Amino acid sequence: MRVTIDGSAVEVEPGTTILEAARQADTWIPTLCFDERLAPFGACRVCMVGVEGNPAPVPACTTPCRDGMNVDTQDPASRRVATAVVELVLSELPEPPAAHTELAQVAARLEVTDQPRWPGATHPVRQELDHPYLAFRHELCISCGRCVRACDEIQGAFALTAVGRGFEANVVAGMDSGFRESTCVSCGACADTCPTDAISERRLIEFGDVYATISGAGA
Ligand code: SF4
Ligand code: FES
Repeated sequence: MRVTIDGSAVEVEPGTTILEAARQADTWIPTLCFDERLAPFGACRVCMVGVEGNPAPVPACTTPCRDGMNVDTQDPASRRVATAVVELVLSELPEPPAAHTELAQVAARLEVTDQPRWPGATHPVRQELDHPYLAFRHELCISCGRCVRACDEIQGAFALTAVGRGFEANVVAGMDSGFRESTCVSCGACADTCPTDAISERRLIEFGDVYATISGAGA
């Protein structure tokens, strides 16, 4: 099949998603809930693109290519959706995400800044630091679901659960009893995929990297 991404023709296999075709064409589409190691989820709506003939943007990570499809990754309506989603998740964090995180990098490329800070509620600080290797800072969670899917799909440990809705949405380990009381096997897949460092390796905190970056103290 042949599809066109921002004017460049790409040959793709049936079943290829728009996101995969765009990556084949070296074209960047922002993503937050996507991880190529995991089954597409289609939750964040940051990867929206315009498709010729479609009345509304579509999510690139879950939409399969059609022969002759003409995709516009710079479609203004799609970019408005992506920008609004990133603005919203940033506005709910008590601190800006560390510069090395995927969220910070997506925000920078979309030119979304959280300065000055938006007014409104931010997630209360809640940190679990009782695991020997993993730290869980719930206030940085944007509920992308990647850690839950990584735990289920990569490790088969089923230690994490998505809970709550809207602003209250978050993730818990076990029955909210923490990593140590859950079926966690300390594989680190959750920390590896987390786009905000809500779940991270403890040593990052112990070495001060993450907090120094978040607070600007290390700048
Ligand atoms: S802890 Fe991280 S990976 Fe898990 S849902 Fe929250 S932001 Fe996503
Ligand atoms: S990356 Fe496509 S919906 Fe989240």
